[in-house]
Amino acid sequence: MALSPLVALNDGHRIPQIGLGTWPLNGREVATAVVNAVEAGYRHIDTAVRYGNEAGVGEGIRATGLNREELFVTTKLDGEFQGGDKALAGLEGSLKRLNMDYVDLLLIHWPLPRRGEFISTWKTFERLQGQGKARSIGVSNFKPSHLEQLMWASDVVPAVNQIQLNPSVTRSADCAYHQHHGIVTESYSPLGSGSGLLSAPVLQRIAIKHGKTESQVVLRWHVQQGLVTIPKSADPQRMKENIDVFEFVLDDEDLAAINTLDEGPEAGVNSDVQGH
Ligand SMILES: NC(=O)c1ccc[n+]([C@@H]2O[C@H](COP(=O)([O-])OP(=O)(O)OC[C@H]3O[C@@H](n4cnc5c(N)ncnc54)[C@H](OP(=O)(O)O)[C@@H]3O)[C@@H](O)[C@H]2O)c1
Repeated sequence: MALSPLVALNDGHRIPQIGLGTWPLNGREVATAVVNAVEAGYRHIDTAVRYGNEAGVGEGIRATGLNREELFVTTKLDGEFQGGDKALAGLEGSLKRLNMDYVDLLLIHWPLPRRGEFISTWKTFERLQGQGKARSIGVSNFKPSHLEQLMWASDVVPAVNQIQLNPSVTRSADCAYHQHHGIVTESYSPLGSGSGLLSAPVLQRIAIKHGKTESQVVLRWHVQQGLVTIPKSADPQRMKENIDVFEFVLDDEDLAAINTLDEGPEAGVNSDVQGH
C-alpha cells in the first residue's frame, strides 16, 4: 500500500500530497469510494457543500475505522455562504453532515469577484480557524489579482489555493505567485477531467518508456513540481494506480515533451466571470 508524502502548509499543518477527489460521486457510491481509497493508502479526501456528498464522505470515513486525526478532510463553501458571517452557518452545516468536529482545510470555493464578498468571508474564515473548526483555511479558483486584494486586507495568507491545473492548463504564473507568497498550489482536474488529455500520444510514449500508465505519468508530473493534487476515481484499481507515483522520476526530456501539451495562459476556467 502506497502512502503519500506530506507537504508543509504555511500555518504549521501538513497535507498529504495526493488526495481523493469526490465530485461527482454521491451517497453510497462516495462512501464506498472513500473506504476503497483509504484501503489504497489515501489519507486526504476532498469534498464541498456544492458536491452534495458530505454525508456520504463522512459515512465512508467512519466505515474505515481510522481515527479522525489520521485523515485530512477538505470542504469548500460556495457563494451561498459568502458575505458577513454566513460562513459560520455554512461550516456548521458541513460539520454536521460530515459528522465531525473540525475540517482540516476549509476553502472559499470561488472568488465571485463581482459580488465583492470574498474579503468579509475570509475574515469569517479567520474566526473559524481561531475556534478550531477549520485547522487550515484557504481558497479555490483565486487568481493572483484576487489573492492580492485578500492579502491587502488580511495578515492571514491562505494556506492553499486549489485551482484547475494539468499539463494542458499549467497556470505557471499562478504557481510562481503562490510560491513567492508561501501558498501551496493544489491542482484539481489533474487528469484533465475526461477531456481526452490521457490519450495524448506524448503521454503514451512516456508511459511506455517508464512502464507506467498515462495517468501515473501525469500525476508524477504534478508531484514532481511540488503540487498537491486530488485525482478522482471511483475504481479501486485506478485509485491504487493514481497514488503509486512516488517511485519513478520523469527526466528533463519527459518534462519538456509534456510541456508541449500546454494550451497557454488563457486555457481553462476564468474565475473573473465563472463560479458559483
Ligand atoms: N475547486 C473546484 O472548483 C473544483 C472543480 C472541479 C473539481 N474539483 C475537485 O477535483 C477533483 C478531481 O477533478 P475532476 O474530477 O474534475 O477530474 P480528474 O481527477 O482530472 O479526472 C477524473 C476522471 O478521470 C478518470 N480517471 C481517474 N483515474 C484514472 C486512471 N488511472 N486512468 C484513466 N482514467 C482515470 C475518472 O474516471 P473513473 O472514476 O471511472 O476512474 C474520471 O472520469 C474533483 O473530484 C473534485 O474533488 C474541484
